[in-house]
Amino acid sequence: MKEKVFVFAALPYVNNSLHLGHIAGAYLPYDVFRRFLKLTGYDVIATSGSDEHGTPITVTSIREGIPPEAIVEKFHKINLEIFNSMSIEFDAYIETSSKLHKEITTKFLKKLMEKGYIYEAEMTQPFCVKENIFLADRYVKGTCPHCGFESATGDQCENCGRPLEPNELINPICIFDQTAPEFRKTKHLFFKLSALQEDLLKYIDSKLNWRQNVLNFSKNFISKGLKDRPITRDLNWGVEVPFPGYEDKRIYVWFEALIGYLTGVSSVLGSQEGALTLWQDNDIKYYHFIGKDNIAFHSIIWPAMLLAHGNMTLPYNVAANEFLNYKGEKFSKSRGKGFSMLKLLEKYDSEFLRFGVLYNLPEEHDSDFSIEEFENRVNTELIDKFGNFVNRALILAFKKGAVSSDQIAQNELDQDAENTIRKSISTIISEVEGLHIRNAFRSWLDLAYYGNGYITNRKTWEACKKDDANCNAAIYTGVKLVYALAVSGQIFLPKTTKKILSWLGYEEPVEIKEDLNFPVAKLVTKPERLFEKIVNKELNLQLRIAKVEEINDHPNAEKLYLLDLDLGDSKRRIVSGIKNSYSKESLRGKKIVVVTNLKSANIRGETSNGMLLAAEDENGIHLVFAPDSANTGDAVKIGDMQTNSTEISIEEFRKFNIKTAKRDSDIVPALYLEDRPLFLEIQHGRLKLDGSPREGLSVK
Ligand code: 2FM
Ligand code: ZN
Repeated sequence: MKEKVFVFAALPYVNNSLHLGHIAGAYLPYDVFRRFLKLTGYDVIATSGSDEHGTPITVTSIREGIPPEAIVEKFHKINLEIFNSMSIEFDAYIETSSKLHKEITTKFLKKLMEKGYIYEAEMTQPFCVKENIFLADRYVKGTCPHCGFESATGDQCENCGRPLEPNELINPICIFDQTAPEFRKTKHLFFKLSALQEDLLKYIDSKLNWRQNVLNFSKNFISKGLKDRPITRDLNWGVEVPFPGYEDKRIYVWFEALIGYLTGVSSVLGSQEGALTLWQDNDIKYYHFIGKDNIAFHSIIWPAMLLAHGNMTLPYNVAANEFLNYKGEKFSKSRGKGFSMLKLLEKYDSEFLRFGVLYNLPEEHDSDFSIEEFENRVNTELIDKFGNFVNRALILAFKKGAVSSDQIAQNELDQDAENTIRKSISTIISEVEGLHIRNAFRSWLDLAYYGNGYITNRKTWEACKKDDANCNAAIYTGVKLVYALAVSGQIFLPKTTKKILSWLGYEEPVEIKEDLNFPVAKLVTKPERLFEKIVNKELNLQLRIAKVEEINDHPNAEKLYLLDLDLGDSKRRIVSGIKNSYSKESLRGKKIVVVTNLKSANIRGETSNGMLLAAEDENGIHLVFAPDSANTGDAVKIGDMQTNSTEISIEEFRKFNIKTAKRDSDIVPALYLEDRPLFLEIQHGRLKLDGSPREGLSVK
């Protein structure tokens, strides 16, 4: 029977959408590990979900005047889309506002009450007289008593990182109306954490395999002495407290969010009993992937809750990552910094983003992320080395046809490749098992560099001038290297490796093991280019949609038209030399693309304010016509380029590489940058350009 393992990723708050720091801190390592377990023969249950309660959500709700339900619904959906784009998958992705979660939380809390771990006590809490409410920690702001930071909140100082209580703040104020709160007595339920100090210490001490950052933090936390913690709040957004007298209070968000892991497994199994039974099994192993700011909750509070509940296996490992820094600052939406995943996914292929994050995974230390470095690395390492190697090896093999392992005569380079494959896969396996995902990824990348070198050193081209067992060996080994990369790379770059495996005739996910069974090197499909390079220059070029209103012959030039154009917000006339290719009737009323940032020019006595986008080849002149549905005056996007509207001269304009390209059966103009045609996006449709550029074209 397969061994059962749970893999959990922290439940993100849904007061905003995910940024790159979240992906690097928890979700990508989670997904790599999850894929790895599935592909090495484990029976995996992997879950996460939206943490929908707590003050991060109510603060946003009050600030923006939107009900919390609407905020939660919006970002839950957006985050799911982000995960989906990033190929980060879950067996269940729960919501903590769901009925199931509330039911499981209620049972859990009642159990702790039964076992004597919950008691009622009074505490003083800030109370806003003006709003007539108790203020949750984060609703109070003031000066940090430790470092003097003026915008510390009642739970923590964002500047020095120290945890705070609202009454420790100097000059506290209510964040909603800036008045000073009163401190009043209110009753709450407390969790007897202090009673579990010894057991927790034993637990942590037994965790010799944990990451040092997690161990240090946890031991330090316990050594300061564990205090009982209130687990209810004076709030109206959250899970109801199942005891009389608590109608206007809710369960503390962290207390119930952690129970979300139980909800996740229950939801996968369709049974709460089933989840508890698995949890009680001493052999069950489970892993938590989290950011470092969540360590205490996962290594201490959650195990304490499970100990108090009784008969529950504790987390096997807590894999906390450090922070991903952008120019030295923590990625944090609350401070308006960092990169939103929505923005990044608009611009970059998700496999590039996985590559970029894995390369710099902040496992043991914080790591830095810079866009320039990322783009450069994708182009020079992922595409130039890995992509190029795969392409070279497979194109040769495609031409040659199937080669089976008994038709080959391997030389020492081939044998070295065989050994390297075995060693690399074994390293990748042991690094992932040890939760060193960044090292595993670097080993994988090293294998790609090795493959690139192999093809060059093996001189497969030359070897295959003769069709013999030596040529067969070079082809076979090249493809086996690609196969090894694709199989082991399934955990890192799932879309890319799926494509490669399908060219090789493997449709199912392929098991990862040291000894690859690879009897025949054959390609069932012609390999294509895997990636398009990131091109990132600013173009001094503004293109807009214009409607042709009127066309007249130029009074002084036989081959020229005068075109009167409507641009929505303005009209303009341009002089154009397309008279031999297009009749007046074929243009009238049509929507075309015009260059609008060209200096005006006098052409044979008539002023021309701009230019049509057109290109010429042996078949004549080709214009870009926009679909009728396009809005007159709209800007045309050029691929993912930034454009600007600074006026340019005709000489500057001629520097743009505009050639014709084929789109379906049409020949249309395209801008080429480093051999890549840039797509012109026109409103509702994308005008896709592909095919190879033709030389010697002029722009009219
Ligand atoms: O930091 C956060 O976004 C928390 N919502 C994480 C919760 S993890 C667990 F408790 F579910
Ligand atoms: Zn401070």
